[in-house]
Amino acid sequence: MVTCMNLATMTEKPIEKETTTDTAPTLPIPGFHDQVVDLGRETVGTVRCENPFMVAEKVNVFYGDNHAIRDVTLEIGKKQVVALIGPSGCGKSTFLRCLNRMNDTIESARVTGRITLDGDDIYNKKQDPVALRARVGMVFQKPNPFPKSIYDNVAYGPRIHGLAGDRAELDDIVHSSLERAGLLKEVKDRLEDSGTSLSGGQQQRLCIARTIAVNPEVILMDEPCSALDPIATARIEDLMDELCEDYAIVIVTHSMQQAARVSRRVAYFHLGHLVEVDDTEKVFTNPQHKLTEDYITGRIG
Ligand SMILES: Nc1ncnc2c1ncn2[C@@H]1O[C@H](COP(=O)(O)OP(=O)(O)OP(=O)(O)O)[C@@H](O)[C@H]1O
Ligand SMILES: [Mg+2]
Repeated sequence: MVTCMNLATMTEKPIEKETTTDTAPTLPIPGFHDQVVDLGRETVGTVRCENPFMVAEKVNVFYGDNHAIRDVTLEIGKKQVVALIGPSGCGKSTFLRCLNRMNDTIESARVTGRITLDGDDIYNKKQDPVALRARVGMVFQKPNPFPKSIYDNVAYGPRIHGLAGDRAELDDIVHSSLERAGLLKEVKDRLEDSGTSLSGGQQQRLCIARTIAVNPEVILMDEPCSALDPIATARIEDLMDELCEDYAIVIVTHSMQQAARVSRRVAYFHLGHLVEVDDTEKVFTNPQHKLTEDYITGRIG
């Protein structure tokens, strides 16, 4: 069976994009080996947002010959959580890593297009990637505390960026970051213990404390709760609620429930395309694209 969808009939409000003579790629749906779907060239929904702080325009990522991200445009605003969802291998982590140039560390990776942070091109030659990553912090799937004390884990960033004038100021930053990450109560009497001696959920909160200690403006989270139990997950989700008062947060998650709980907007990726992005409630209750619908109803996974 061959299914070809006409995006014109599926799209409620298509994004205006430059016309192109390329034909849209026709790709098999994972798990649906007998079906072929026209992915179209336009993202369905609303890629723009009010007061955008980070803007990705026509971003493409290649790993050698593998075209992993295809023409993705997305705006990210402060004080909101955007959730990136989609089947394994669709490019969620790759796109997330573009936002703080973590793909620079992968030799075969090549990024084209434009990404700005508060109007400045983050791929500008003058942009120092280390300074960028202080503004756009990242929390990984597996908590990765440094093999240092709890205190030194949190003090690491403020030290290398010279954020504290003296030890008292550094103490303040460490305490307030641990407090905001919801960990201070549990560790205040053991700040000299190794960060790796904490439980998985505590380690993840330590990594969040380490990230916020340098006052980032954007926080990227790549499946931050996938190794955590429901209680630790709930704590991190509460924390995200608090943190988004100050920051823009972009989270990759495989949990639709989590995306529904924490995010204001949802972006659905499929085979490197940003298929649909819109308000979370709208995507989950009234998806416009067939692929989004298939994914959220569990037919693709
Ligand atoms: N370091 C890398 N080197 C080469 N190719 C990579 C690398 N990382 C990812 N890829 C490729 O890029 C594509 C997208 O992968 P990515 O890890 O971004 O997907 P994902 O949506 O995050 O998947 P998952 O849900 O499994 O984490 C895949 O084809 C993958 O094989
Ligand atoms: Mg990933």
